[in-house]
Amino acid sequence: MKDSPKPPLIEGDVYKSNMMKNPFSLIGKTILVTGASSGIGRATAIECARMGATVILTARNEKRLRETLALVEGSGVEGRGVESRYICADLNREEEIQQLVEQLPQVDGVVFCAGVSQLKPIQTLKENDLQTVFQTNYVAPVLLTKALAKTKKINTSGSLVYIGSISGHTNYATALSVYGSSKSALTSFVQYAAIELAGRQIRANAILPGRIETELLQNQTMSAEDIQRDIDKYPLRRYGRPEEVGQAVVYLLSDATQWMTGTMVRLDGGRSLV
Ligand SMILES: NC(=O)c1ccc[n+]([C@@H]2O[C@H](COP(=O)([O-])OP(=O)(O)OC[C@H]3O[C@@H](n4cnc5c(N)ncnc54)[C@H](OP(=O)(O)O)[C@@H]3O)[C@@H](O)[C@H]2O)c1
Repeated sequence: MKDSPKPPLIEGDVYKSNMMKNPFSLIGKTILVTGASSGIGRATAIECARMGATVILTARNEKRLRETLALVEGSGVEGRGVESRYICADLNREEEIQQLVEQLPQVDGVVFCAGVSQLKPIQTLKENDLQTVFQTNYVAPVLLTKALAKTKKINTSGSLVYIGSISGHTNYATALSVYGSSKSALTSFVQYAAIELAGRQIRANAILPGRIETELLQNQTMSAEDIQRDIDKYPLRRYGRPEEVGQAVVYLLSDATQWMTGTMVRLDGGRSLV
């Protein structure tokens, strides 16, 4: 009697070796986080370090970046956080984007978190309002993506994660027209980047958060009653926390999502459903 055909050994070996790795870990990866001096960017940097990444932080405010770095160094597993560092840059200036990219080591992932909010009814808008918001929320991430792709500082199989907003997609509210449209433009770009960079196995995805408890929220002019009324519109009855965005970012940076590109991940406590 003939032996039955053996299973393909190579496939089996690859499967076994993949089983040994934790696909959700960021150990061995270097991640650039923009907007790392506060809020979601700071929390994301800490979550990346907690999952083993070396983190490069960037923003304009050096004092606050130093504070984030101390938190990152305190969170890194097995002392890995110690290689993390910060580079100051104003991403609204193309020459500073170039200088930032020149100083970067090779990176495996980038989190585009720097952004500005704006609450302004349409009738009160000035041209400068549009320029400021679009420059930070759309032009800067596009130019940074270009610089990373052109210099090949982003490794093959790298992951780009952009922070959009549900205001740009499902939640259209008064006074958020410019902010919301800057985020729609950004997430549209993410899908084009996913197509163009796929040849190098580089993935591009976006997270669309609902309201997150950060300074960006505190700086707005909503009264406590308005905030409570707004929270009541969230099926999970609360705003999100910065680290919850960071944890979703970690997932998109990790090898667990190697086949995921051009996707918008809604992270909003169910707000878009109602
Ligand atoms: N909080 C929310 O409810 C919410 C909801 C949905 C989406 N988002 C998005 O999440 C991202 C982070 O928001 P956040 O709430 O964490 O805000 P945040 O605390 O105000 O942080 C904004 C970050 O962007 C950086 N930044 C702004 N302009 C910059 C520039 N020209 N160059 C370099 N860095 C710049 C700031 O750093 P420096 O001032 O030090 O430069 C800061 O680190 C934004 O894109 C925001 O639109 C937030």
